[in-house]
Amino acid sequence: MSYAGKKVIILGGASGMGLALAKKVIAAGGQVVIGGRNAEKLGRIAATLGNGTTYKAFDLGDEATVKAAFDEIGAFDHLVTTAAELTFAPMSDLTTAQVQSMLVSKFWGPFYAAKYATPHLAKDGSVTFFSGLAAYRPAPGASIVASLNAALEGLAMSLALEIKPVRVNVVSPGVVDTPTWDFLSAEDRQGLFDSVAGGLPVGRVGHADDLADAALSLMGNGFINATVLHVDGGGRIA
Ligand SMILES: NC(=O)c1ccc[n+]([C@@H]2O[C@H](COP(=O)([O-])OP(=O)(O)OC[C@H]3O[C@@H](n4cnc5c(N)ncnc54)[C@H](OP(=O)(O)O)[C@@H]3O)[C@@H](O)[C@H]2O)c1
Repeated sequence: MSYAGKKVIILGGASGMGLALAKKVIAAGGQVVIGGRNAEKLGRIAATLGNGTTYKAFDLGDEATVKAAFDEIGAFDHLVTTAAELTFAPMSDLTTAQVQSMLVSKFWGPFYAAKYATPHLAKDGSVTFFSGLAAYRPAPGASIVASLNAALEGLAMSLALEIKPVRVNVVSPGVVDTPTWDFLSAEDRQGLFDSVAGGLPVGRVGHADDLADAALSLMGNGFINATVLHVDGGGRIA
């Protein structure tokens, strides 16, 4: 599908799946605005993406700034939020600050973004949130991550009715090789990926491009709405 003449806002677009999606939208002729907190990183990535890519640096938890950013961007076609800052730890070890930070990136952020983007979104446009496999395959240390993924999917279903005819969908990734795992040593990271891959029907972890292709198909198909697209290599049934 051509994205010529289309403008896509990707919050989290300087890294991982968001960045892979930005590259694909641009290759299809679209214009992209990437968002995140780190202005230096956003500027550097936007320059490498080219094709008039611009960026907005803000914390998704800052409601007034999110509103101002969308008012400044003006009319556009598709909103995608891939932003996440997550802590995997048992409930007994999680601090309130850590939980608040997770809430900001995975719940308040997508909520504020959808709220303040809606007046500017094309009627044939879409919103795409990113949830995750933890909502379906809970694991110790992922209680808040699982909760927020499930909450985001609930939010999407209601918004698909509230902001119609704009479509609202969700991509639910399994384990994907992105910089989100950079907190692990190279050895631990590879060990994790090998272990996860061994338990999956497809025998590998995801690539950022797998998820970008999934988001593109949700954005581009005008009859896909209120759908959670599981892109997890079969992780829910493994
Ligand atoms: N990777 C996986 O294995 C996996 C598995 C299941 C689900 N997911 C979900 O898939 C989505 C994409 O994951 P990914 O691995 O591609 O992510 P990623 O590479 O870690 O990138 C996340 C981006 O979010 C931005 N961000 C974080 N907190 C923010 C905030 N408060 N305000 C604004 N921007 C913020 C970060 O940029 P700054 O630091 O510059 O702000 C970063 O660019 C996420 O929702 C994640 O939870 C990922």
